[in-house]
Amino acid sequence: RMSAGDNSSACDWQLQTAVALDIDGVLVRGKRALDEGRRALQLLSGNNRLRRRIPFVLLTNGGGVSEADKASDISRLLGVEIRPEQVVLAHSPMRALTSKYAQKHVLVVGGKQSRCADIAQAYGFGNVSTPNDVVAWNPSAWPFMQPPTADQLSAQGAKRRDYANDPFHAVMVFHDSFDFGRDLQVATDVLRSANATLGSEFVNRQTAPLYMSNSDLIFSNDYPRPRFGQGAYHVCLRAMWDALTGGAPLKYTLFGKPNKVQYQYAEHLLDQIALAAAPDTDLAQLHARRRIFAIGDNPAADIAGANGAGWTSVLVRTGVFDGSSGTNDATHPAHLVTDHVEDAVNWIIESEL
Ligand code: G3P
Ligand code: MG
Repeated sequence: RMSAGDNSSACDWQLQTAVALDIDGVLVRGKRALDEGRRALQLLSGNNRLRRRIPFVLLTNGGGVSEADKASDISRLLGVEIRPEQVVLAHSPMRALTSKYAQKHVLVVGGKQSRCADIAQAYGFGNVSTPNDVVAWNPSAWPFMQPPTADQLSAQGAKRRDYANDPFHAVMVFHDSFDFGRDLQVATDVLRSANATLGSEFVNRQTAPLYMSNSDLIFSNDYPRPRFGQGAYHVCLRAMWDALTGGAPLKYTLFGKPNKVQYQYAEHLLDQIALAAAPDTDLAQLHARRRIFAIGDNPAADIAGANGAGWTSVLVRTGVFDGSSGTNDATHPAHLVTDHVEDAVNWIIESEL
């Protein structure tokens, strides 16, 4: 048994247990917090029968905000303090791409206006443009929207640059597209322009690498049935690519659950939490005995990913999976299915403490 390094908490830590909680469909639905979510976070924070704190992270395929903003949003909604170091967003591990692209020109797709561009810049990408910037340069690039006025463009932080001779080096989809049509057009333009330069002719091969942060086809908000996620944009992008080029399929690198990179990133954050709680922790020993639980609502993302990472998966019925298709998911069966996240955390506590 290890005790907490900081004296701010009266509770000891249970470091050989760790939990990764999904957000949408588990802790919240849209902007509404689930009461079971509030109680689940309380339980993990030490309000359990043994008064032990269990390290946890929030592992979401959401994004379009900074880790700090997500942490403060969830803290406010759920009433438990979450630190930015406990948040894995779909695009969090894309930070590592700065080793290659810090000085390169990157098209950042998704989210509200220039917000994802700001996030990318905060990660260390030094030369970022968005589809909105491209339309500001030449409104005919996407003729089906009312061109923004100069005032709107400056309020949106749109860049003023000449994209005709300004090659891109990568396309990075950070978040759900807020304008599918425009974002399909501009991303496809970059990917198939000679030298990935918008002023050049189209060629039938891919001229820039594509990175995408989350392949969820659907996700759960406060609408009664699942909504299109970023994966829906990928399906459209691939279909347009095939129809236009008739050549080799689009190549891309995926981040987000269920991909391994997300689980490695989450484990790294859990290691940091353990080291902060007990600085003399031997990480190799901890890895050998730590059991990590994932609680999620989307079998294809949360359960497939957790099972693949060797974690213990718990599927809840408050989101994408509602139990109507059976007692467990047939394709990606979880180790346990519970009605909601509070039951899941109670089961973890009973089996671990
Ligand atoms: O856009 C967010 C959605 O795709 C999934 O969020 O928290 O259920 O992984 P989450
Ligand atoms: Mg979810």
